[in-house]
Order: sequence, then C-alpha cells, then structure tokens
Amino acid sequence: MHVAIFMGSPRYNGNTSTMVSILSTALITKGAECKSFYLYTHRIEPCLDCRLCKYDDMECSQLDDMTLLYKHIEWADVIIIGTPIYWFGPSAQTKLLIDRFRPYFANKKLYGKRAALLLPAGSGVEDSDITIEQFKRFFKALGVEYIDAVALKAYEEGDVKDDAKQHDRIRDLVEKIMEEEVA
Ligand SMILES: Cc1cc2nc3c(=O)[nH]c(=O)nc-3n(C[C@H](O)[C@H](O)[C@H](O)COP(=O)(O)O)c2cc1C
Repeated sequence: MHVAIFMGSPRYNGNTSTMVSILSTALITKGAECKSFYLYTHRIEPCLDCRLCKYDDMECSQLDDMTLLYKHIEWADVIIIGTPIYWFGPSAQTKLLIDRFRPYFANKKLYGKRAALLLPAGSGVEDSDITIEQFKRFFKALGVEYIDAVALKAYEEGDVKDDAKQHDRIRDLVEKIMEEEVA
C-alpha cells in the first residue's frame, strides 16, 4: 500500500507533525510504503482558475513544486492530509494544496483512492467539524473514499507527544487504513 502524507503546519515539531510521525511509523510497521511532504517547504502557487486543466492533457499549467506533489498524489493508494485547525478551517498552505487538486475533478485520476485526516486544534473536535465536512465533500467530488479523521485537542507544540491516549486514536486509524489491504 502506498501512502502519501501531506503535513500542513508551519511548526515542524508541532502537533500535526507528531500525529503524522505516529501514523507513518505504525503504517510502515504494517508494511505500507509512506512518503511525507511538509507543505510549508514547498512552493505552491494558488489555483488561478485558468481552466486549462479541463482540456487536452487535463493537467495543471503552472510549474512549481506541485509537479512533485502531483506525482505522489497519483502514486498513492491512500492520501493523508494533516493540518492544524486555523479559524475552523485548514491552514493556508493546505488550502493552496487542495485548490490545486482542480485537475482531478476533470480527469478523475483519483477515483478509487482512499483518504484520511489528522486534525489538531486548540479546542479539539468542536472546532474541527467544518473542516471534516469540507474534506468529506472535497473527497466525494474527486471520487475518493473518505476513511476517517482523527481530531485531537492540542494547543502547545508538545501536547500530542505528551498524551499517550491520543496516540491510540491514531493507531486505530492505522487499522482502518490497513483494513482494505487485509480484505
Ligand atoms: C492562525 C491560527 C488560528 C487558529 N484557529 C483555531 C481555531 O479556530 N480553533 C482551535 O481550536 N484552534 C485554533 N488554533 C490553534 C491550533 O489549531 C493549535 O495550536 C494546533 O495544535 C496547532 O497545530 P501544530 O502544532 O501542528 O501547528 C489556531 C492557531 C492559529 C495559529
């Protein structure tokens, strides 16, 4: 199983990062191949709504670090998006990423893939609901099966790291991701 993980926090030692690392370590132990990408070290230009991706090769006309990210989005069987909740939504860099999924709405290349979310928020799940709903609709529009989200209450950088109970919730998600492989 190929898993592409997109980490959308600017804090490299923050909660999203910890969640990503617990998830990928457990997935690798179970035999999955994981590739993680820190979105804040990638240059992702905003979608310009040029609509060129609706025609011909149905690819994005912009040349930036999305070229590499597109390759891995298409390589993946499972896409993981980890983002801190910023004002009830995903971080700006994560929003840049998902807007650039526009070609996949036209070319349907993501049909049959699966996806899950890692969402730390200072207030926890109560501030994550709009984001979960947004991503559910986003994945549905792209023909991607939504697996689940882990939304954790975490504010300071070490909050997830220091709370072992939260780690179990991430491991439960790993089981759900791997279910398909066993079936
Ligand atoms: C600009 C900004 C907006 C935020 N908005 C929310 C919010 O709406 N609800 C919430 O619970 N936490 C909010 N937070 C707190 C973060 O979600 C929280 O600190 C999270 O653990 C950060 O994850 P990270 O350590 O991976 O960066 C916000 C933080 C920032 C910087």
